[in-house]
Amino acid sequence: MNIGTPLSPGATRVMLLGAGELGKEVIIALQRLGVETIAVDRYEGAPGQQVAHRAHTLDMTDGAALRRLIEQERPHLVVPEIEAIATDTLAEIEREGLAEVIPTARAAQLTMNREGIRVLAAEQLELPTSRYAFADSLNQLRMAIDGGVGYPCIVKPVMSSSGKGQSQIDGPEDVQAAWEHALQGGRVSGTRVIVEERIEFDEEITLLTVRALEADGSVGTHFCAPIGHRQEHGDYVESWQPQPVADKALARAREIARQITDSLGGRGLFGVELFIKGDRVWFSEVSPRPHDTGMVTMSSQWQNEFELHARAILGLPVDTALREAAASAVIYGGCEASAIRFDNLAEALRVPGSDLRLFGKPAAHRRRRMGVALARGTDIDQARARARQCAARVTPREA
Ligand SMILES: Nc1ncnc2c1ncn2[C@@H]1O[C@H](COP(=O)(O)OP(=O)(O)OP(=O)(O)O)[C@@H](O)[C@H]1O
Ligand SMILES: [Mg+2]
Repeated sequence: MNIGTPLSPGATRVMLLGAGELGKEVIIALQRLGVETIAVDRYEGAPGQQVAHRAHTLDMTDGAALRRLIEQERPHLVVPEIEAIATDTLAEIEREGLAEVIPTARAAQLTMNREGIRVLAAEQLELPTSRYAFADSLNQLRMAIDGGVGYPCIVKPVMSSSGKGQSQIDGPEDVQAAWEHALQGGRVSGTRVIVEERIEFDEEITLLTVRALEADGSVGTHFCAPIGHRQEHGDYVESWQPQPVADKALARAREIARQITDSLGGRGLFGVELFIKGDRVWFSEVSPRPHDTGMVTMSSQWQNEFELHARAILGLPVDTALREAAASAVIYGGCEASAIRFDNLAEALRVPGSDLRLFGKPAAHRRRRMGVALARGTDIDQARARARQCAARVTPREA
């Protein structure tokens, strides 16, 4: 592997499809290694667009437009950061050898739809998952629940993320409202949902798993320490690392993560989401890219998840070692505004061991993630308390 000089004919060019807070950090990590970066997002001024060499604004579900841009920019690597992309176009681009898709076009295709990844995990790899079924109508949804999924269960549009359109059903009286909520929350028009048995887990973890080149040219699998997290309305609010997991469950979790990432293939970092109860482990889903709960690694690891992704995709070696206990807590917009400012930052950063990332998103919504507080501590309890305190002190206001 060699890296050329950015903005010269020998440059190593990487295009991020999606340039939110996660893409921004990947771009920063790539730039530190002298890579020429191109940020693409569907709106102007996205966080990653602010730090890349070049920025483009594009509807990435438009396959023809995406192809034109890739032909114009000629990136060596195309790195999806979001799910809503014309993945068939990515598959063509991979097949033609126009660019390498990270980790693979097939991984992007399978994970953009909950159905693809669930069928692969549960039916082909026979990994343990919640009981589930798919439904295209209210009537089918009722039949799926009565036919085996049972109550309580969770309904999600097959094309959605960050908890959008997701709700829990406790009994027959909730089914219609959950169906209607899913219709409104899907990413694309279309009505298909997955309904899943609710798993009564002790904890849920993200197991960051890296596929990277080894000295002998083979691809090796490396695991980060488990990340614990708490979700509200299907969206992450805080995370911490290392989440203690019993030996047997951890071995099982790693085995599941190894199988699903082997199957998706390629190089890069994956966020494998798992539910744990005692020694039992269920596969939930996987992102073939850095994971939002993994932002904690900016304080907890020697190489954070973005640096690990950058290294792995460039064919460079990785070190997943933990440095110290740390936590992250999300900072929401808290208001509806086309521009905001953050008050009380000095007070926030006076929390011992704390740090902040303010993403620079142009517009705020009440529940839009605008930044994250990070904190290290002697243990995860202290780190969590500090991260929450730091986040609580940051005060976003309409500018
Ligand atoms: N079958 C289930 N049993 C118990 N809890 C669940 C189940 N499915 C989802 N959840 C809860 O809802 C959260 C979000 O679900 P999931 O990860 O499937 O959705 P998502 O929209 O892809 O979220 P994100 O994009 O933030 O990862 C999970 O992290 C978990 O807390
Ligand atoms: Mg998830």
